Amino acid sequence: MIRVLVLNSKGGSGKTTVATNLASLLALRGSVLLADLDPQHSSSTWVERRSEHLPKLSVMADADRDFRDYPPSDFVVFDAPAGLKKRRLEDMLDEVGALLVPIGPSSFDMDASRLFLEKLDEIKRFRKGKVRMGVIANRVNARTKGGQQLQMFLADLQLPVVATLRDSQLYVRASQQGAGIADLRTTETRAELPQWAQILRFVMEGGHGARA
Ligand SMILES: Nc1ncnc2c1ncn2[C@@H]1O[C@H](COP(=O)(O)OP(=O)(O)OP(=O)(O)O)[C@@H](O)[C@H]1O
Ligand SMILES: [Mg+2]
Repeated sequence: MIRVLVLNSKGGSGKTTVATNLASLLALRGSVLLADLDPQHSSSTWVERRSEHLPKLSVMADADRDFRDYPPSDFVVFDAPAGLKKRRLEDMLDEVGALLVPIGPSSFDMDASRLFLEKLDEIKRFRKGKVRMGVIANRVNARTKGGQQLQMFLADLQLPVVATLRDSQLYVRASQQGAGIADLRTTETRAELPQWAQILRFVMEGGHGARA
């Protein structure tokens, strides 16, 4: 079983977008449980909108349920809420082998993400390298200053960037249909798919190893 947590305490950084797109791609490779830990239930409502013609995936929306009660599946993708308390963060990190951290390009995103990464570093299991982290630069528009500043911010902190996702309406369209961008029948997604191949590779290599 591969378990990956999509996390950033900054609201709106792209956690649900990453979690749902990842779940959609993994559903082509095995059984997927999307664990919606957010009381806003965005991932759960995304699954409700999903067409029956797309690969099936299960969703669990009970934030307080013990992770050990989750039904068995090849992949579990945890969609975390914003603003997690340290204790809950520690509990969640105990359960996963890999962590994906989307970071948006505004200075608010970067400032809040810096604080979040410091908090993460205080957690022993993370510091000891028992959970692999991959950062996703999200909503990047190469032509704007924000995108360039985000790249500089990530390089400065020497963060392991696994992918850079464009600021694109494709993500908005896909989310409205309970789909991932790869499910949209359009050639427009082609340029973005290599980034998802990198995310998938990261997850397949680093998602084991829970409960060391
Ligand atoms: N790469 C992108 N391109 C365009 N829009 C995006 C992209 N990533 C996210 N969005 C949009 O930004 C908004 C916030 O994204 P999302 O809901 O994934 O963030 P979140 O971190 O899950 O938020 P929350 O902290 O509230 O759970 C959504 O409307 C989503 O469609
Ligand atoms: Mg969300």
